[in-house]
Amino acid sequence: MQKIVIGNLKMNLEEKDVDEYLNIIKNTDFPNVDLYMSPSYIYLSRFKSKNYHLTAQNVSLFNDGAYTGEISALQLKSIGVDSVIIGHSERRIKFNEDSKIINKKIKIALENNLKVILCIGESKKVAKENTINILIEELKKDLKDISDYSNIIIAYEPVYAIGSNTDVNVFEIKEIIDSLKSFMEKLYKTNIKIVYGGSINENNINEIINICDGVIVGKTSINAKKIIEMLKKI
Ligand code: PGA
Repeated sequence: MQKIVIGNLKMNLEEKDVDEYLNIIKNTDFPNVDLYMSPSYIYLSRFKSKNYHLTAQNVSLFNDGAYTGEISALQLKSIGVDSVIIGHSERRIKFNEDSKIINKKIKIALENNLKVILCIGESKKVAKENTINILIEELKKDLKDISDYSNIIIAYEPVYAIGSNTDVNVFEIKEIIDSLKSFMEKLYKTNIKIVYGGSINENNINEIINICDGVIVGKTSINAKKIIEMLKKI
């Protein structure tokens, strides 16, 4: 089965870097990988390729109208975007997006037929049982009144593991992901895909890739050569 890889470029790359990046990434096709590429809004059209999903890093709460500075699901869809990252910890923490906002964004994205990559993660390292409870409580709020999960991927990213070079504790991550999967199966009757994120790179990808459905990658994805190196290992 194909593994999911999501390249979250965050607020990186300048205009002068884009061509070189695309020369490396655009024509690559890895049969074992279902790739999602998520550059800043301003580069989305240029990133279009038949080899990967075009993914936005955010979406407006509204479809159209007087919302200066916002970009809607409708607009994203109209330029060929098929997926969107929602609930990333950087948006939850730095832009005060709470679960009510995230729930609304998920609904508007799904209504517009965008696939949703829903990020969740505990902010501090706590005992495993507590982590699972924190994540389940968050999922219940984020997914409130949503009944179709077929277009949702969950990205489990402990906040302290993002951009930190933290060691990957495969055993613990597997236990958490397995618990989340069985929670989703029991309560929502869905076999949802769960990817892991937090300092994943070309050196630790082999450790993690077999215990989950894929990965979400920040820092490593800024370097096109490194992401290719990583994809080759899957
Ligand atoms: P990182 O970021 O790979 O730099 O830790 C992951 C993310 O924020 O999605």
